[in-house]
Amino acid sequence: MYAERVLSGMRPTGSLHLGHYHGVLKNWVNLQHEYPCLFFVADWHALTTQYDSPQGIEKASMDMLVDWLAAGVDPNQATLFIQSKVPEHAELHLLLSMMTPLGWLERVPTYKDQQEKLANKDLSTYGFLGYPLLMSADILIYRADNVPVGEDQIPHVEFTRELARRFNHMYGREPGFEDKAREAVKKLGSKKARLYEEMRTRFQQNGDRDAIEQAKAVLDEVQHLSMADRERLFGYLEGTGKMILVEPGYLLTEASRMPGLDGQKMSKSYNNTITLREPEESVAKKVKSMPTDPARVRRNDPGDPAKCPVWQLHQVYSDDSCKEWVQHGCKTAGIGCIECKQPVIDGILKEQAPMRERAQVYLDDPTLVKNIVADGCEKAREYARETMRDVREAMGLEYH
Ligand code: TRP
Ligand code: SF4
Repeated sequence: MYAERVLSGMRPTGSLHLGHYHGVLKNWVNLQHEYPCLFFVADWHALTTQYDSPQGIEKASMDMLVDWLAAGVDPNQATLFIQSKVPEHAELHLLLSMMTPLGWLERVPTYKDQQEKLANKDLSTYGFLGYPLLMSADILIYRADNVPVGEDQIPHVEFTRELARRFNHMYGREPGFEDKAREAVKKLGSKKARLYEEMRTRFQQNGDRDAIEQAKAVLDEVQHLSMADRERLFGYLEGTGKMILVEPGYLLTEASRMPGLDGQKMSKSYNNTITLREPEESVAKKVKSMPTDPARVRRNDPGDPAKCPVWQLHQVYSDDSCKEWVQHGCKTAGIGCIECKQPVIDGILKEQAPMRERAQVYLDDPTLVKNIVADGCEKAREYARETMRDVREAMGLEYH
């Protein structure tokens, strides 16, 4: 059975905070049990905006990897690697650049947005324009089926899909494609072949996308198929030619509702974060200095949790009976704010305890992290090399 592959990357921003944990990392930890997963540090992507100050990238990458491991990303289940250690990404990026219409890149919404947002930087560079293309290369080189991303990244995945389709259409027309595809159908065995043909007809005559999905499910069950035949059969379904690159889907990561210390969304740029491995004293100090409902000037003034950022954290960390206690105690001035904050502090520390413990192992022996990444890079390169062989072949660069 061919298992769907999941791939995602993160720019090396240094220490991650609890917003990253609740938004992205918990999701990765769940996915690693369900799919073969590849997670990588997008260090070249950092250079697209930070080309003038690359000094911090290496440390930020290593810190981030420790945070992933601390959060429970398990190197025995998922493949962890660093983008720049798999130079095949760059080769695919180059080859794709030959056939990528400039207009497609200029129309990606983040292009103009980010240029305006980061107006103090000169982002009229080749690399910055090519950011989505580099991301496409990251995805396509692993023939990823699913890419978990936040909402802002969806246009990039859609761009990747269009690019894969264009590529397959342009280079998937190997000589004798139809004959080869028909030969491959025979290899399915009579029952599966009949099902496949039926689904293919249903799509070709009625444009029924369900039929495509069903046919793909049939192909997934066949073990003895070569990669080349599998691609032909995928492409033959839609009539596009051999499917060399796989059109990825996305898995939308719900925007993290993790509130920061001031009630706004937790974000480094708002300076309202608690880091994943924030020292215990610092957690307590930060929560104790959080603003509360401004109406509670004195201990005896009743308040309203709806107007208080501490309440938002209770919603993440407290059970119903504690939340009941807050609601009642706050509105009747039965509890003070210091008291009210203690369960939040406890909740955060409890969540962090296993992370701190896991991280300590890697902090004590940083070569462990290096080895995990080296293994991950080797594994990633194997996949990447396989795809590149097919891509070079399709583009007439095999030099047999
Ligand atoms: N662009 C992504 C971000 O800023 C990071 C990224 C780079 C990525 N390559 C990727 C995410 C490939 C998913 C797949 O968040
Ligand atoms: Fe906020 Fe709790 Fe103080 Fe009410 S008692 S204002 S919810 S910190």
